[in-house]
Amino acid sequence: MSYTDELFGLQGVKVVITGGAGVIPGAMAEALLGAGAEVCLWGRGTGHPVQEAVDRLVESTGAAGRVFGVTVDTGDESSVEAALQQTVAQMGPPTALINGVGGNKTKSAFPETDVPLFEEVLVMNVMAGLVVPTKIFSRYWIANKLQASIINLASMASYIPLSGVAAYGAAKAAVMNLTLANAREFAQHGIRVNAIAPGFFLGYQNRSLLIKDDATGELTDRGKAIIAHTPFGRFGNVDDLKGTTVYLVSQKASGFITGVTVPIDGGYLTHNV
Ligand SMILES: NC(=O)c1ccc[n+]([C@@H]2O[C@H](COP(=O)([O-])OP(=O)(O)OC[C@H]3O[C@@H](n4cnc5c(N)ncnc54)[C@H](O)[C@@H]3O)[C@@H](O)[C@H]2O)c1
Repeated sequence: MSYTDELFGLQGVKVVITGGAGVIPGAMAEALLGAGAEVCLWGRGTGHPVQEAVDRLVESTGAAGRVFGVTVDTGDESSVEAALQQTVAQMGPPTALINGVGGNKTKSAFPETDVPLFEEVLVMNVMAGLVVPTKIFSRYWIANKLQASIINLASMASYIPLSGVAAYGAAKAAVMNLTLANAREFAQHGIRVNAIAPGFFLGYQNRSLLIKDDATGELTDRGKAIIAHTPFGRFGNVDDLKGTTVYLVSQKASGFITGVTVPIDGGYLTHNV
C-alpha cells in the first residue's frame, strides 16, 4: 500500500451523506468513492430523487456495489431512525456522516420577511441539516462504541451575513456554533465533528440567485458582486471540495482534528480594502 493510500485510503469506511442527490453532497460522494469508501446517499423521493443520484454516481465512478440510496426526510426523527436501520442492513454500520441537507429559499429586505419561510429555512439547515441526523447517529455510535466522524456544511454566511438572506445566515451561523459544541461534547466518545464552509458553488438551491440566463451563463448582479469579492475571481467548482472531504473523513489523516470549519472559498473571507 502506498503512503498516500495509508493516509487517505477509505477502504471499508461506510459514509452516509444527507442531501445526497444535491450538487455539493454528490461531489463529496464522488470523492469518497474515489478513495475507496462505501457511500449511502440519503435524499428525498421527489425533487432530486435519490435513486437517480445513485445511478449517476455508479456511472461516473464505476463504484457499483459501493453506492446505496435511502429515501428519507432528515428533519423527521422517526424517518431518520428508520433510514439508519435500513442503511445498516444495506451496507453495515456507517462511521461517518456528512450533513449535506441545506440551502436557501428566500431573498428579501428584512422588513419584508416572510416569517413562515424564514422558519422553513431555519428548520431545513439547522434541524434537517444537522440536529436530527446528528442526534440519531451520535446515540447509535455511542451505544455501539464506534469511533466516527461528522462533516457539517457551513457557509460564508456563517462568518458574516450576506445581504437579503437573513434566515440562511442565522442558520449557517448556528451550524458553525453546533460544530464546535458537538466536537467538544463528543470527543470523549471518539467522535470528531468538523465543517466545510464552501464559498459560492452553483447548487440547485442558489442557481437562480447567481445566474440570470442559463443559456448564456450571464450572471445576476449578485453573482457579479460575489466574483468581484473573490480573490480567485470565480465560483467554486465542486472538485475543489473533494480533497478536504477525504481528509476530514480519514481517521489516519485527521484523527486529532475536531471542531474546525474549513473555508473552501477562493479567498472570499480574506477580503479587505
Ligand atoms: N452551493 C453553494 O454555493 C453552497 C455554499 C455554502 C454552503 N452550501 C451548503 O452545502 C449544502 C449542499 O448545497 P447544494 O448547493 O449542493 O444544495 P442542493 O440543493 O444541490 O442539495 C441539497 C439537497 O438536500 C435535499 N434536501 C433538502 N431538505 C431535505 C430533507 N429534509 N431531507 C432529505 N433531503 C433534503 C434537497 O432535495 C437537495 O437534493 C447545503 O447545506 C448548502 O447550504 C452550499
